[in-house]
Amino acid sequence: MTRSRPPRPSHRPAHGARRRALTATVPLALTALLASASPAGATTTGGAGAGDPYFPLAGNGGYHVAHYDLDLRYDTATRHLDGTAVLTARATRRLTRFDLDLSGLKITGLTVDHAPAAHRRDGQELVVTPRRALRKGQTFRVTVTYRGTPKPVTDPDGSTDGWIATDDGAFVAGEPQGAMTWFPANNHPTDKSSYDITVTVPQGRTAVANGVLVGRRTHQGRTTFHWRQSEPMAAYLATATVGTFQVRQYTTRDGIRVYDAVDPREATAAAPVLKKLPSVLEWESRLFGPYPFRSAGSIVDHAPDVGYALETQGRPVYDSAPDVDTLVHENAHQWFGDSVSLTSWKDIWLNEGFATYAEWLYEEQHGGDSAQKTFDALYARPAGDPLWAYPPGDPGDGANLFGTPVYARGAMVLHALRTAVGDRAFYRVLRAWASEHRYGHGTTADFERLAERVSGKDLDAVFTTWLHTRGKPSRP
Ligand code: TRP
Ligand code: ZN
Repeated sequence: MTRSRPPRPSHRPAHGARRRALTATVPLALTALLASASPAGATTTGGAGAGDPYFPLAGNGGYHVAHYDLDLRYDTATRHLDGTAVLTARATRRLTRFDLDLSGLKITGLTVDHAPAAHRRDGQELVVTPRRALRKGQTFRVTVTYRGTPKPVTDPDGSTDGWIATDDGAFVAGEPQGAMTWFPANNHPTDKSSYDITVTVPQGRTAVANGVLVGRRTHQGRTTFHWRQSEPMAAYLATATVGTFQVRQYTTRDGIRVYDAVDPREATAAAPVLKKLPSVLEWESRLFGPYPFRSAGSIVDHAPDVGYALETQGRPVYDSAPDVDTLVHENAHQWFGDSVSLTSWKDIWLNEGFATYAEWLYEEQHGGDSAQKTFDALYARPAGDPLWAYPPGDPGDGANLFGTPVYARGAMVLHALRTAVGDRAFYRVLRAWASEHRYGHGTTADFERLAERVSGKDLDAVFTTWLHTRGKPSRP
């Protein structure tokens, strides 16, 4: 049967009230227009957001970050974080000023290309004025030193994300907004970068980030873990989860480096599930094409207040021992969501509908219900059911990002597509989507066009009915 991912903590309403979220986009777009029209010598600013209607301040204009080098020290007893972030970025236009996103924390130093730069805080915007204007195309380096007690952000749906302290460390997951609670970021999935993440924690604790562990040393009662994520990653998929963990490392037959970190309180429940990771990744690779990253694994924390797991890149983080469906779901995101990224949060069904459909397919091929049966059981829900509250192609509001219409009806879109084009063409579509947009981005319109091109069919009616039309479709 279907279950909505993630399990929602009881304090969080499953379906937030709809409200208009577009008010801030017009002035931002105007600012960007004016900025790009100004002649050299005039003031040209980066812009406070990436233009996302659900999160107008998320991300920034005027530059891309190629690499983040984060050096953190976390004191698990006092919950104090000390950080140095070195961003290597490239200006996409002339910049006399640009923004980063940072929520909370105190800045103790900021340089651009080693020269101290003026800066001020304005909500989540960290506004930086370099001593000299940056030329269009110029590569520049921003170094920010900062400290404080990180505080998670509360999202429109009432959930929290970011750096979430636990009894033995921190659960770190930044979807959709929380990356900025622990490092200064260009905090929108349109910008993807490589990362070096170095974390120093009290000896006995383990810090697990993305990618491959390239170094580890203990000195004077503290252990430093140096992680490297070489493939492009969106900021929200970064983690630096800290805790008391049992660690297991191995390499799969395909040469993927696996690192599992498990809170001992979850170890018994987690063991039989994590053991399946290599076979799940092999199964997903057969369906979706080669696994996109050189690293894999699982971070199984004991974080009872969180209420969800996240597909942190190359190594999902779970708030408790996952079941097999959740393992399948978070790892399917490595193809759909992590390697192929969103350009706008309203396209979230491209992540959640795909990862949920992967669960249906896994059940179908491993002795569970057929995808058709799962689809039929959902379709039987009455027109007033929350499943039909809004179309997956347009959640309408950041509060609806993780609702049942995105996960379950999003998966129904893919099943309707499969029914329309047949299995062979359907799996070719999934693989083409993963390979043609690998390490990049894709939009809902891109997917619709690709499905039509690969299948050779006009799919307008399928997508209109299942993806874009409000309410319960009249025929399955
Ligand atoms: N994307 C996650 C998943 O599907 C779920 C998730 C991440 C989430 N952050 C969230 C759900 C915040 C609710 C609120 O596994
Ligand atoms: Zn998901």
